[in-house]
Amino acid sequence: MAGASVVASCRLVIMAFMAVATAASVPAVYVFGDSLADVGNNNHLLTVLKADFSHNGMDYPGGVATGRFSTEKLGLATSPPYLALSSSSNANYVNGVSFASGGAGVSNATNTELCITFDKQIEYYSGVYASLARSLGQTQATTHLAKSIFAITIGSNDIIHYARANTAATPSQQQQYVDALIQSLSGQLQSLYNLGARKVLFLGTGPVGCTPSLREISSTKVCSAVANAMAVQYNKAAEGVLNGMTTQHGDLHYALFDSSAALLRYIDQPAEYGFTEAKAACCGLGDMNAKIACTPLSSYCANRSDHVFWDFYHPTEATARMLTATAFDGSTPFIFPINVKQLSAI
Ligand SMILES: *[C@@H]1O[C@H](CO)[C@@H](O)[C@H](O)[C@H]1NC(C)=O
Ligand SMILES: *[C@@H]1O[C@H](CO)[C@@H](O)[C@H](O)[C@H]1NC(C)=O
Repeated sequence: MAGASVVASCRLVIMAFMAVATAASVPAVYVFGDSLADVGNNNHLLTVLKADFSHNGMDYPGGVATGRFSTEKLGLATSPPYLALSSSSNANYVNGVSFASGGAGVSNATNTELCITFDKQIEYYSGVYASLARSLGQTQATTHLAKSIFAITIGSNDIIHYARANTAATPSQQQQYVDALIQSLSGQLQSLYNLGARKVLFLGTGPVGCTPSLREISSTKVCSAVANAMAVQYNKAAEGVLNGMTTQHGDLHYALFDSSAALLRYIDQPAEYGFTEAKAACCGLGDMNAKIACTPLSSYCANRSDHVFWDFYHPTEATARMLTATAFDGSTPFIFPINVKQLSAI
């Protein structure tokens, strides 16, 4: 089901941050994760999890759909999609690359056939690592990667799948599932460290229970408490993993963005942040515009800036811009132990 595929939070955080990071002498950004960061890899896959159609491109420069799930008009250079680069015989990975794929999860079992799983993304990256070592020499490649940012947003799809399938999960069952995710995540982050990652921007999952898609299945249109609780647990445990890794590896630095805490502010008090609609999606079809994805046949709202959610899983550009600003130079409890600006400067 396409509906259980992609998810919410803040791809723009990565995008905006990439421009500034580059200005602050970060040589490249390597992007991993799900639709929040997908710049077009899924357009190279035979999958229903694509966003290469007109409404999703309506805010792009020139209004051209370029395969991004959320809208943006920052007009910044973004790390190109791996599947586009790798098809060229003299692919250059020195300026960064994005492995992100809409629908991807921490778990291999999440949307396996529809996207590039996180494990597969890391496998592709290990090829890029080898290629950089060949072209720059091992020492230069190591230095280049140590200065680069590794931006990762992963976990939302796993939690959404679980919450949809297990609406009556007990707290201990939820915890068990999150523990299993975290165990995989821990190995995946360690693999990236082993392949040269030294500056990690980890975007935790958003309050996925409040996405229009999960609200819509409740008879009273309330947020899924199960999904939201799991997002909180997951973000907290991810912090534990990263913190543990820095204790073990003195040369590792990270910034963790708690998308859940940051986005819940807008959902709980929309008026304070300039929103009038924090529940229904701007673009889609059916109840709350959340029954069916945003497609060329969907209806969409008159004013995208007053909606928190663009489609059934993704935030609007207005939302994403505000999240971006917080991640960039905000502070705890939203971004910690350092913010993106500080991470870039290391
Ligand atoms: C997931 O798939 C990758 C290959 O893509 C494999 O290396 C890994 O062991 C798998 N993980 C699990 C938990 O099955
Ligand atoms: C759209 O919504 C934003 C945010 O609430 C508001 O500032 C703006 O004036 C609205 N635009 C129109 C054309 O109503």
